[in-house]
Amino acid sequence: MGRIWNFSAGPAAMPEGVLRELGADLLDLEGTGIGILEHSHRQPPFDRVLAGALDCCRRLGEIPETHEILFVPGGATLQFALIPLNLLPDGGVADYPDTDIWTAKAIVEARDAVPSARIAVPFEGKRCAYDHVPSDAECPASTGAAYMHYCSNNTVHGTQYRHPPRCADGGVLINDASSEIFSRPVDWAAHGLVYASAQKNLGVAGMSIIIVRRDLLQRAPRKLPSMFSYAAHAKAGSRINTPPTFAIHALWRMCQWMLREGGVAEMERRTHARARLVQHAIDASDGFYTPLGHAACRSLINASFRLPTAQLDDRFWRDAARDGIDGLAGHREAGGIRASMYNSCPLSAVEALVAFMREFKRTNG
Ligand SMILES: Cc1ncc(COP(=O)(O)O)c(C=O)c1O
Repeated sequence: MGRIWNFSAGPAAMPEGVLRELGADLLDLEGTGIGILEHSHRQPPFDRVLAGALDCCRRLGEIPETHEILFVPGGATLQFALIPLNLLPDGGVADYPDTDIWTAKAIVEARDAVPSARIAVPFEGKRCAYDHVPSDAECPASTGAAYMHYCSNNTVHGTQYRHPPRCADGGVLINDASSEIFSRPVDWAAHGLVYASAQKNLGVAGMSIIIVRRDLLQRAPRKLPSMFSYAAHAKAGSRINTPPTFAIHALWRMCQWMLREGGVAEMERRTHARARLVQHAIDASDGFYTPLGHAACRSLINASFRLPTAQLDDRFWRDAARDGIDGLAGHREAGGIRASMYNSCPLSAVEALVAFMREFKRTNG
């Protein structure tokens, strides 16, 4: 069987060219006669991989030298705990607008990580079924908050901030960019920390990229075990112990691919082109397909929508899978349909999806 169109939310589709490179690297990394999985993490071949990954990320994201890039084992869920441990003093305050299932989890983890702190929730999206992200007026920062943690693209309900929220004076913005990293430019001056798990735009699950302002590392509010400490990861150059070498290598290959294709500007152009096609198919369906999010903040990346009944939702993704379009079942807590279109998703996949949507409506509408 050949490859089929994959709209999985993550782990997600990767470019075939990158998969072939990785396949070759498994047998022989750049003429060393040893594969990437077999190389020591302290020898020159892996030194080059790590340096290459850092360099490509910096160029791709136009990340200034004010910010350190870390590769930390564990997904974004681990960062939900590590961020408050590293940045929130005992008795301090942090703002967490709740815009989706992932921010709700981040709030629980932050409260467990620093029980003496106040985790304020200036916007409670659950009350409106997570159908929009807040305007600045709906999301007031708490006086004295150390940071405002937000999720720029909400993978489950398919909403996206058009611009970041405002944090308190003297605080910093922290963004969970797991489902949109390197798909549009970031205002680095406004962000103290941006993080993403790797399995959507950067390859392999189980590792996160943390891009953090260097001065924040020096101000860590407490002593932590080394693997929990961003400052320790920075000091050790992301090699406190044996790092996830293959995940770092795959991230490097993904970043090289994005740079070759035209960088973040081109990723952003493609993101808009894909979203236009799907959003048009939804909007032209006379209400057969209903988006979960308000039009003004619909995600350009995760198209989340419903059909008139849950039975039709089920039939839609099952029939689509039979037609070679996979990964469309909505998140288990939200239901409906979700098409995840990360940087690797080709326009032809979206054209196939849109053709399927029209035909499904014709035969079931
Ligand atoms: C926005 C967002 N944050 C966090 C996560 C959790 O990532 P992980 O499973 O790597 O912990 C996800 C996973 O889909 C996500 O989409």
